[in-house]
Amino acid sequence: MSETLSPAPLSTRLKAETAAQHQLLDNEISGRNLFGSAQGYRDFVRLQYRFHRDLDPVYRDTRLEAFIPDLQSRNRFAHITQDMKDLGLDIPRQDTPNGPDFFTRLQTETAIGWLYVAEGSKLGANILDKLAQNLGYSADFGARHLAPDPAGRGPSWLAFRNMLDDTAIDPEACIDGARDAFAHMARYLAEQ
Ligand code: HEM
Repeated sequence: MSETLSPAPLSTRLKAETAAQHQLLDNEISGRNLFGSAQGYRDFVRLQYRFHRDLDPVYRDTRLEAFIPDLQSRNRFAHITQDMKDLGLDIPRQDTPNGPDFFTRLQTETAIGWLYVAEGSKLGANILDKLAQNLGYSADFGARHLAPDPAGRGPSWLAFRNMLDDTAIDPEACIDGARDAFAHMARYLAEQ
């Protein structure tokens, strides 16, 4: 009897195929010591703002609710906007290199790859939230967007991961989306 190997779950592939990009971001953010001072933290919030402003239309895309029913409540853009106000930061001009309509025209499965990066980053936010607290910021002031989703970090991530693994999604389109999302964040970080 011949054995067929089942393909790796999509969440496993996404993690493996973007691990190097994640490591570079982690190294860069840690290397620049963005959590070492209030000024560094302001740069981090501005970076998060730019990324999540671009993703706001993706979180509002009703086509994606068939995959992620609670998508709208996962959107952190309003929290980050409030963090910007708390910190007295000016709103940066929106100049996405991909063009103004890019995020409203994403193919569904590519969009899910972008969402993987935003949703997965809430796991690392567990660490970043503690570092922000050391600087005096909290879920009530300045670090609202680093707080866990109302469902809790673990359950929120598990629900998203199960959706990735239990739904028929073209893995290549999804992984391409995730790679683009990491590259997009890296580009903004390089500009900071
Ligand atoms: C200094 C900055 C960062 C640190 C220290 C960090 C740390 C971490 C850690 C420890 C995890 C794994 C948590 C767990 O498995 O429970 C994680 C997951 C993740 N992070 Fe980060 N992170 C950072 C920045 C970022 C940024 C800027 C992004 C994207 C914009 C990001 C995207 C992700 C994704 C997508 C995952 C999920 C990986 C998976 O399990 O599939 N991270 N991060």
